[in-house]
Amino acid sequence: MKVKRIGILTGGGDCPGLNAVIRGVTKPAIEMGITVLGIEDGFEGLVEGKIHELTNRDVSGIINLGGTILGSSNKGDPFHWPVDDGEKIVIEDKSKLALKNYKGWGLDCIIAIGGDGTMHISDKLAKMGMNIVGVPKTIDNDLYGTDQTFGYDSAVYVATEAIDRLHTTASSHHRVMVIEVMGRYGGWIALGAGIAGGADVILIPEIPFKWEDVFDKVIERSTKGKRFSIVCVAEGAKPLGGGLVIQEKDKKRTDPIRLGGIGYSVGKKIEEETGLETRITILGHLQRGGSPTPFDRILATRFGTHAVELAAKRKFGHMVALRGDKITSILIKEAIKKKKLVPINCQMIQSAVKVGVSFGNNELTKWK
Ligand code: F6P
Repeated sequence: MKVKRIGILTGGGDCPGLNAVIRGVTKPAIEMGITVLGIEDGFEGLVEGKIHELTNRDVSGIINLGGTILGSSNKGDPFHWPVDDGEKIVIEDKSKLALKNYKGWGLDCIIAIGGDGTMHISDKLAKMGMNIVGVPKTIDNDLYGTDQTFGYDSAVYVATEAIDRLHTTASSHHRVMVIEVMGRYGGWIALGAGIAGGADVILIPEIPFKWEDVFDKVIERSTKGKRFSIVCVAEGAKPLGGGLVIQEKDKKRTDPIRLGGIGYSVGKKIEEETGLETRITILGHLQRGGSPTPFDRILATRFGTHAVELAAKRKFGHMVALRGDKITSILIKEAIKKKKLVPINCQMIQSAVKVGVSFGNNELTKWK
């Protein structure tokens, strides 16, 4: 049976490149005679019935635009739907309503662009009978099954530029500069931007750090090397034996935990224990906003066009993926089996150590 109507949605936190995927899906689909319907605000629109047709005009001139023309939400999980009854938040299952809308709109398939939360939801909806093709998005780059997600390169670009800027002022004032970047439970952004920006210390969730090793590195630099240091901290980094720093827990979110704040602890402790003047920057959502890099525009376009091909071939239940320089696909149920974390002994970490970067744990990273 020929695929005639596809829905497209962007789920979870936004990131640069979403619009490039929407364009990459819509243009070839229309060319193939397929009607494309944009579902608004991620899965929220699937439950609440918010949808509109996308035309060539809608997707023209958007490859360079950050955000998503469809809107997004990380509170729209149909299986975990928060209802505020005025006194408390009750979680309800709205998946049957989602299925009803899917059928009512006459969709043959949904192209779901998102991170691990979106892929988990997609897998459950697929089990209920919806045809889904996934597209891996996230600045965190922590989705298993693809060498890289789109959005990551743009986030690393922004974080690297921020570190470059911190470098000049750190050097003028002989200070320690701590910068906290995003990434949730993975250290990819901190690792990428830390190496590219020439950070002296990089702290990532995969390598629990020892306070003494961090202090030693900045003291060593202040006495023997340059009189400033740059410390790049992933929001999910934690000291050995310590826990994550959580900003808030919000029951309404697909993942209730909002990380953030480890940068403050690291900066405060460095100043207290070493006596070196320290300043702290939390980069936050600057990493998610703005235009995608050329790399992300290209990757997103390739992902989008491949997703349509999969849909047209009725290869449902797959997520498009980058493997080497080829776009391929993996079963969504395989992609969600685990998270893609930074392997401790990967070449990136080994190279960083060779150029003098400390990961705050000399024991675990002693390849030099
Ligand atoms: O997953 C992307 C991400 O930007 C994470 O790096 C970060 O922890 C989280 O989303 C922030 O979520 P929110 O935009 O809901 O604060």
